[in-house]
Amino acid sequence: MTLTTDLIAQLTATLVPVAGAGAGAEAARIVEAAKTARPDAFAELAASWAQRRAEGVPLGQILGRQRFLGVDLVVGNNVLAPREETEILGREALAFLRERDSKHPGRELRIIDMGCGSGNLACALAVAMPRLKVWASDISTDCAESTRANVARLSLQDRVQVFAGDLFAPLADLGLAKSIDMVVMNPPYIPSISLEKGRAELLRHEPREAFDGGPYGISVLGRLVEESPPFLKEGGALLFEFGLAQERMIKAVVARKGYYTRSRMASDSQGQPRVMVLQQ
Ligand SMILES: C[S@@+](CC[C@H](N)C(=O)[O-])C[C@H]1O[C@@H](n2cnc3c(N)ncnc32)[C@H](O)[C@@H]1O
Repeated sequence: MTLTTDLIAQLTATLVPVAGAGAGAEAARIVEAAKTARPDAFAELAASWAQRRAEGVPLGQILGRQRFLGVDLVVGNNVLAPREETEILGREALAFLRERDSKHPGRELRIIDMGCGSGNLACALAVAMPRLKVWASDISTDCAESTRANVARLSLQDRVQVFAGDLFAPLADLGLAKSIDMVVMNPPYIPSISLEKGRAELLRHEPREAFDGGPYGISVLGRLVEESPPFLKEGGALLFEFGLAQERMIKAVVARKGYYTRSRMASDSQGQPRVMVLQQ
């Protein structure tokens, strides 16, 4: 008990520079996971994991697991470890689906999780909504594989199908036109130049496709806004995450395309807008 408490305190100090206020929680997760992996030598293992974390490796990559909206996920190689901030998008998606469910009780709800990564949104939403049907897709075959692994672990195969390809291309011939209640995506939104310079460390541990949003950070987002409407039912919605301080650019893209009648943004705990909710 004391060894564990002391170890968590010691690792917390190591993790503060990378994890800030979340250092204590990360240290506790590391120690818990190390105890499970190697009960006889967990302190050494936990210290080596904390050292990698201090070098900037995401915790989900080190442990090979990450919790997202209460769902435990395996995170494969070359796959983004889901970030806590993406839970804002997940909660907004869930609120939209619950509202839609209450308006049309008993009706099947259908969503597309675009750029599914580890399958965090697809799986968490399917677990929370027992009648939900999900079409998940990613340009990366590693991500599609990682999502399939999580779908199988959570026994969601009969409700979550997984595809690989560029945006909506793999879904084009599935007869989904005007049948989808919600498209959700956490797209890559970091400008390419930032990845070459200030934020190059991101590419040391996770794939470029997860981050690179083109010259202004909105290349994939712009296509998403344009290509979602043919899939959406009346009253259907497109929800997506965007980067800090990108809200003006996003509003301009949405206004230019003009496909949606209602729009609003959701913010993080610091009041920074991070999620766009667009409705037809
Ligand atoms: C920021 S990550 C999000 C992953 C996961 N949904 C999450 O929330 O952690 C963006 C994902 O979009 C995928 N992606 C990037 N460009 C894409 C495209 N043109 N078509 C489909 N997926 C794409 C990436 O491979 C990556 O998995």
